[in-house]
Amino acid sequence: MEQPPTFLQRSNGAVNTQDRVRIFRQRPVTIWLTGLSGAGKSTIAFELEAQLVGLGHACYVLDGDNVRHGLACDLGFDRKDRRENIRRVAHVAQLMNDAGLIVITALISPMSEDRTMARDIIGRDKFVETYLSAPLDICARRDPKGLYAKARNGEISSFTGVSAPYEAPVDPELHIDTATLTSRESVAQIFAHLRKNSLTTARQEAGA
Ligand code: ADX
Repeated sequence: MEQPPTFLQRSNGAVNTQDRVRIFRQRPVTIWLTGLSGAGKSTIAFELEAQLVGLGHACYVLDGDNVRHGLACDLGFDRKDRRENIRRVAHVAQLMNDAGLIVITALISPMSEDRTMARDIIGRDKFVETYLSAPLDICARRDPKGLYAKARNGEISSFTGVSAPYEAPVDPELHIDTATLTSRESVAQIFAHLRKNSLTTARQEAGA
C-alpha cells in the first residue's frame, strides 16, 4: 500500500470508533459489490440501501458511475486508472466506516489484486466481498446503458468483458447468481449473510 511522507502524523480526537458504533447501534462494514456491467450492482446496491435505511441503519452507496462524476472524474478505464478509482473509493469507504456508516460500493472492480488492495485499505474484518455473477452474454443482452453495443462496434475501448478482463473472485464472502435471482432475492441473500455474521441486526423487529 502507498505510504504518506514520514513527517506527517495522525491526530485523534476524543471520539473513537466504539463511540460511533454505540451511537449508530450498528457495525460499520463495507459491502463491496463486484461484477460485470449489467450484472445488477447499482440496482442491488440502492435496494439494499433502502432496506437498511428502512430498518433504521445509517448507510451510503458509493456507485462507480456516480463517483466518476466527481471524486474520480479525471480517471478513465485503463488498468492504472481503474486501480486509482478503486483506491480512492476504498479510502472513502474506510473513512465512512470509521464515521460509523455501513457502506455499499458498486464498482466493476475487475482485477483481484485491486480488490485485495481495497480489502487491505478498508480492513479485513469490515470487507464483505460480494460477487454478483451473471454470464457475459446475459449482461450484454440486458445492456441497460447500451455500452456493450458501443464496445462491440469499437466506439468504447477497454470495455470490461469485451476488450478488457474481468477476474472473478475466487473466495468471496458472498456469491450471488444474478442471472437467475431477482434483485429482491439477491438483496435478501445479502441480508441473510449480514445477519448470520451479526453485521446487522433486525433492529425494528427487535424493537431497537
Ligand atoms: S471500475 O473498473 O473502475 O471499477 P466503474 O465501476 O468505476 O469501473 O465504472 C464502470 C461504469 O463506467 C460502467 O457502469 C459503465 O457505465 C461506464 N463505462 C464507461 N466506459 C467503460 C469501460 N471501458 N469499461 C467499463 N465500464 C465503462
